[in-house]
Amino acid sequence: MEQGRLSTRVRVVEPGAEDGPVVLEAGAVLRAGGLVAFPTETVYGLGASALDEQAVAGIFKAKGRPADNPLIVHIDSFASLGQYFPLITERVRLLAAHFWPGPLTLVLKGGDRFPAVVSGGLGTVAVRVPAHPVALALIRAAGVPVAAPSANVSGGPSPTTAAHVLDDLDGRIDLVLDGGPAGLGVESTVLALSGALPVILRPGGVTPRQLEAVLGPVKLDPAVNGASGDAKPRSPGMKYTHYAPRVPVVLFDGDNRAGIVKRILAEAENMVARGQRVGILTCRDNELMYQGRGYAVIATGWRDDPGSIAAALYESLRCFDRRSVDAILAEGVPAKGLGLAVMNRLLRAAGGNVIKI
Ligand code: TXA
Ligand code: MG
Repeated sequence: MEQGRLSTRVRVVEPGAEDGPVVLEAGAVLRAGGLVAFPTETVYGLGASALDEQAVAGIFKAKGRPADNPLIVHIDSFASLGQYFPLITERVRLLAAHFWPGPLTLVLKGGDRFPAVVSGGLGTVAVRVPAHPVALALIRAAGVPVAAPSANVSGGPSPTTAAHVLDDLDGRIDLVLDGGPAGLGVESTVLALSGALPVILRPGGVTPRQLEAVLGPVKLDPAVNGASGDAKPRSPGMKYTHYAPRVPVVLFDGDNRAGIVKRILAEAENMVARGQRVGILTCRDNELMYQGRGYAVIATGWRDDPGSIAAALYESLRCFDRRSVDAILAEGVPAKGLGLAVMNRLLRAAGGNVIKI
């Protein structure tokens, strides 16, 4: 039995029209407690007023998100930060000056004005200033900070287009602002600042090297390079899988490019022998090696250009769901620069199904 089904509206926001009536109306929807999906420079977000406990609860419901997974609060500028966080350290000032607006989320203490539902009662609140004209105009039009996770069903790949948002959330939210494809294709970097050394909780659009150039040494949370953010034994395809299509993913990881292709081809033949349909996620450099064998082959970008891979990653994973394959055999990429974020998402999508070459 379906309850409370909404009729989700989609409104296109043309470049240059961010301050027009469409975004103004979307701001009013947020102020009134509604849910609005919108583009950012990373992925599409699902927004609600961060000051409205019930509206934020609605995000968790629409996504099927566990209540203990906190949200990111989006504000329109560093100048607004002081309204919500009384103590702004020099480190925060420095990071904001370098990376805001942009794909860096800071986990801060003292966000007591936000209801506990925003942060899962953690006592810290994650905040960022997005670098997308529609996102910024929406926050201003709403006149309140906007809590927004990625606008996908919990556990699945994040949306990088308005169509992806509708695939996941049609009928569950009020409005989608369509501002074209999100640029980066992977989410913001999440940085915790409570200890002596800053800790990257989730790699993303700002790389460790960029952070270190500003801050000095930063640590990577141990969960970043693992399949699970939890110490419990992994359970492939189960609770700790994220960013994952419905089809199981097997990740082939290592430095030996030829070795990876060989291993994937061998595994693909095994699948065919078992009567299974093979999906292969590769890069443009290797694409030809898999052609002509009846596999569903999707190439993201170039192996040495992680930005091109990031931009196509989620769309590619979603594509396999439409192509009825039994498993996706995915090539790992070098975990450098944006590649660290790509590998983190692939590891989580594979939920521990990793073959080291
Ligand atoms: O690029 C992005 O960050 C996108 C766009 C929409 O801004 N948002 C996004 O949100 O990816 P979401 O909810 O999918 O991911 C938020 C991440 C989660 O891993 C969450 O656990 C972490 O940030 N997070 C949020 N608040 C936190 C907190 N107080 N402490 C630690 N981690 C937190
Ligand atoms: Mg997400």
